[in-house]
Amino acid sequence: MPPVSTTECRFITVEGIDGAGKSTHVTAMVERLRARGREVVHTREPGGTALAEALRELILHRPMDALTEALLIFAARRDHLRQVIEPALARGATVVCDRFTDATFAYQGAGRGFDTAVLAQLEAWVQEGRHPDLTLWFDVPPAVAAQRLAHARVPDRFEQEPQRFFERVAEGYRERARAHPQRFVMIHSDAPLEAVRAQVEAALAARGL
Ligand code: TMP
Repeated sequence: MPPVSTTECRFITVEGIDGAGKSTHVTAMVERLRARGREVVHTREPGGTALAEALRELILHRPMDALTEALLIFAARRDHLRQVIEPALARGATVVCDRFTDATFAYQGAGRGFDTAVLAQLEAWVQEGRHPDLTLWFDVPPAVAAQRLAHARVPDRFEQEPQRFFERVAEGYRERARAHPQRFVMIHSDAPLEAVRAQVEAALAARGL
């Protein structure tokens, strides 16, 4: 199914290292868009379909090597795109997706050290030209994120990683933001809730959302 082109900003992704504090803001963002009369599909990766959610459980909790991890993530993404994202965009809905391929370049590429040329090839096969229109990147110092995670629930395979892993992931996001300056907006999320919310609202308003 080749991607339907969107002239407006309708495919929005949200990114950041674990502990960046994006969840509350994603929910508020979805509410804001719905209040403006849009149909919004709020989804996440890995996940978003029954198959992709089953793969998510494996990815987050079963030991595996970096290639297996990357392949499962892209398999989940393929199903999610075909079952949820492309049909939603085709009918005119807005899709807000908590993480997408930038996370793969940041976590599997920069974090795990997996070959980014292979990731780019998988991205091309799986996405057939589909990319987000806007990416809100919640940037927080890894030390702050680590403190937030210390109070979190039982950690998954990624949350268990040491701070230096998240330093590499954060650098991976910085690289992606440098490579795609048109769609990336950095949100300084080491700030009080209201200040972060204001940055998110400004980013949306700047795109007429
Ligand atoms: P979440 O807890 O924000 O839903 O994300 C689940 C974890 O999956 C998070 O630690 C990041 C990781 N992840 C990757 O490593 N690569 C990816 O491509 C995606 C989408 C998530």
